[in-house]
Amino acid sequence: MNQATKPRYDALSRAFHWLTAIAVTVAFILGPGGFGRMMHQGVDPATHSDIVWHESLGLLVFSLTVLRLVWVAFRPAAPRFAMAGWMHIASKLAHGALWALLLALPMTALLALASEGHPLTLLGGLRLDQMPLIANSALAPLADWGDVHGLLGDAIMWIAGAHAAAAIFHHVVLKDRVLAAMLPQVERR
Ligand code: HEM
Ligand code: HEM
Repeated sequence: MNQATKPRYDALSRAFHWLTAIAVTVAFILGPGGFGRMMHQGVDPATHSDIVWHESLGLLVFSLTVLRLVWVAFRPAAPRFAMAGWMHIASKLAHGALWALLLALPMTALLALASEGHPLTLLGGLRLDQMPLIANSALAPLADWGDVHGLLGDAIMWIAGAHAAAAIFHHVVLKDRVLAAMLPQVERR
């Protein structure tokens, strides 16, 4: 089989995947611990570059995910691989959970900021001091959205870690093309 006919994700799906994986990982590393305490002390979050980067990367992840879902509806069919039924179901469940978390993380963050009256502070000096539509929504009083957001942030890293381990298992133990299908194409002469 030559390189061109080997099953792989299209270039745009691969670019979306790796950009998202990098942005989520950096956002997670910059996750602002002690945010509530800082806000009570009257600290302006715009003066903390980790918070500004965290929120900007998180919103980038949200935009990439929405565009990516639109692309999934139109793109060439994703490659399919022969594997045990349970493995196929496990991969569908993991992908479903990852998609849901990629959307839920930014949503819970905006609910947390809006319901507590904290500003959204982004790169380039962009800020939104009030988000009345979200603050007055029926969802706002239902939970401590900051806590929910932090838990979901931990959850996505655990699931992405298991998902990455499964991809490496496919490559190293099962020796199939699941991981290669998502890797950048390496040109060989
Ligand atoms: C890829 C998406 C994201 C991930 C993986 C993520 C992860 C996390 C984690 C793990 C924490 C808890 C940190 C700690 O307690 O040590 C956190 C807190 C926080 N994140 Fe995110 N986050 C994401 C997106 C966003 C976005 C889009 C925003 C803003 C719009 C945001 C704003 C915040 C805020 C304000 C807190 C502090 C919450 C509180 O303690 O009340 N995050 N995030
Ligand atoms: C935060 C990190 C990550 C997230 C959120 C994530 C999310 C996803 C999602 C949503 C898909 C489905 C893609 C589609 O249908 O276009 C996918 C596929 C895939 N991911 Fe990830 N991923 C992450 C990290 C990784 C890492 C580190 C690896 C490799 C070590 C990896 C390997 C793969 C592979 C091989 C596929 C295709 C699987 C298949 O066809 O069954 N991912 N990922």
